[in-house]
Amino acid sequence: MRSDSIPITVCQERKKDPIEMFHSGQLVKICAPMVRYSKLAFRTLVRKYSCDLCYTPMIVAADFVRSVKARDSEFTTNQGDCPLIVQFAANDARLLSDAAQIVCPYANGIDINCGCPQRWAVAEGYGACLINKPELVQDMVKQVRNQVENPRFSVSVKIRCDGCKRTFIKPCNVCWI
Ligand SMILES: Cc1cc2nc3c(=O)[nH]c(=O)nc-3n(C[C@H](O)[C@H](O)[C@H](O)COP(=O)(O)O)c2cc1C
Repeated sequence: MRSDSIPITVCQERKKDPIEMFHSGQLVKICAPMVRYSKLAFRTLVRKYSCDLCYTPMIVAADFVRSVKARDSEFTTNQGDCPLIVQFAANDARLLSDAAQIVCPYANGIDINCGCPQRWAVAEGYGACLINKPELVQDMVKQVRNQVENPRFSVSVKIRCDGCKRTFIKPCNVCWI
């Protein structure tokens, strides 16, 4: 993991945090998570064109926690890279909260990918298949909330819009979907 080691409090003083942005009533321009694309260079570019909030590409939480090499190659940031949400693929509450704790000083929140339909992801229990496991998602959200000390650190989930949205939102208790 590479960064200029800026404390996120500096960032949060300078810019609104994501939850405040959504409650402001203003249009929030977001750069969605995109594997291979929404890395630091791309985020820097879209911020120049008044993007309000950027996501990293999806990062597999288990790899991120276990391997320094994965951290160095998957997550790079700098002082201007905020507000920032780090998106994880996860199917284990403990691993996700460990990953969240690692990125917490450098990001404004994490997002759980519950929308990726790719076969490899679903086979690993990540992405779109989590829509059928609201208890697991709830567990992951709770564990991150309990482990990360910063109450302004957001925890969100990204899903595909369909009929299950309403039944999914209630048990999960996330900041936004
Ligand atoms: C190249 C590419 C990579 C993507 N990678 C991710 C990803 O890592 N995580 C995710 O949740 N969605 C990913 N998506 C989906 C986008 O975040 C977004 O939801 C989708 O493109 C629909 O938004 P749009 O209508 O503005 O394109 C990806 C999409 C593209 C085109």
